[in-house]
Amino acid sequence: MTNLRVTARAHTNIALVKYWGKADTDLIIPQNGSLSLTLDHFYTDTTVEFDSKLTTDQFILDGESKSPVKITNFLNIVRQKAGINSFAKVDSVNHVPSTAGLASSASAYAALAAAASKASGLNLSHKELSKLARRGSGSASRSIYGGFVEWIKGYNDDTSYAVPIEEDLDWKIGMIVAMVNSDKKKISSRTGMQTVVNTSPFYSAWVESIDDDLRNIKVAIKNRDFKTMGEIAESNAMRMHALNLSSSPHFNYFEPLSIEIMDTVEDIRTNEQIECYYTVDAGPNIKILCQQKDADDLLSKLRVRFPQIQFSFTKPGPGIKYLN
Ligand code: PMV
Repeated sequence: MTNLRVTARAHTNIALVKYWGKADTDLIIPQNGSLSLTLDHFYTDTTVEFDSKLTTDQFILDGESKSPVKITNFLNIVRQKAGINSFAKVDSVNHVPSTAGLASSASAYAALAAAASKASGLNLSHKELSKLARRGSGSASRSIYGGFVEWIKGYNDDTSYAVPIEEDLDWKIGMIVAMVNSDKKKISSRTGMQTVVNTSPFYSAWVESIDDDLRNIKVAIKNRDFKTMGEIAESNAMRMHALNLSSSPHFNYFEPLSIEIMDTVEDIRTNEQIECYYTVDAGPNIKILCQQKDADDLLSKLRVRFPQIQFSFTKPGPGIKYLN
């Protein structure tokens, strides 16, 4: 039998209502539902080929050979589902700065789930792909789809998966990504969120606040109410970071420039009447939600104030696709 060599592309996503905390650390079942926007500009292309002649899994990331331990754990789930035991060669090219709070794990595991499952002979639905991607990284469950996506938290492997809210957006919005630091993050999202679940006295209040955020942001999206959507996203992100500040040991992902950019976004919004809102993940980079008509104006204002920072604008992006 000839081996199947499959390449898949998945785009990253940025949560507007964040996933922050696991109910099951092994299956990656979250404590709360979340909602994201898939981005066009940042994506991962991954090629997988299972080969009975290999004696171990091989992992190449951006042309360099890497430890396959995490990949092997993930491929074991695929092998079990497909009933095969061959090792695989995985070749991944990241068009996202790795581990800089830009959710490279989201596009990485979504692309790996799509490529590996198909290369193993499985023919999974998007729902099954979302569940599989979730096992690699929670946020990857959402990168199966384009546009606005909700991850339904569920309570076990079968009930926790993402669903598309609106895939082909006719709403002219996007995000400016401010690359404050593209180095590896100080505290992984895995460690950060577990510390918070175990120690923050505010954690139950966070979980309780999510249903309102999800309900209200979905209404805002439906009504094309940019202001309400942005306000919910910004306040949800700050609540997530307040958990980090309130845990033991406390930690944060901000750098001085992160805070300066956040202040500047508020200043531009208040004093220059351009609607823009920030959100921050497990890293120092700032993502600014804006409308396409304002993107150039905003970019030039930000570049004047922060000439040392790289800003890039991206429109909403599509779901996974196979490149062969
Ligand atoms: O999926 P992970 O383990 O990379 O965690 C993602 C956590 C956040 O990016 C901070 C929030 C989210 O919902 O994407």
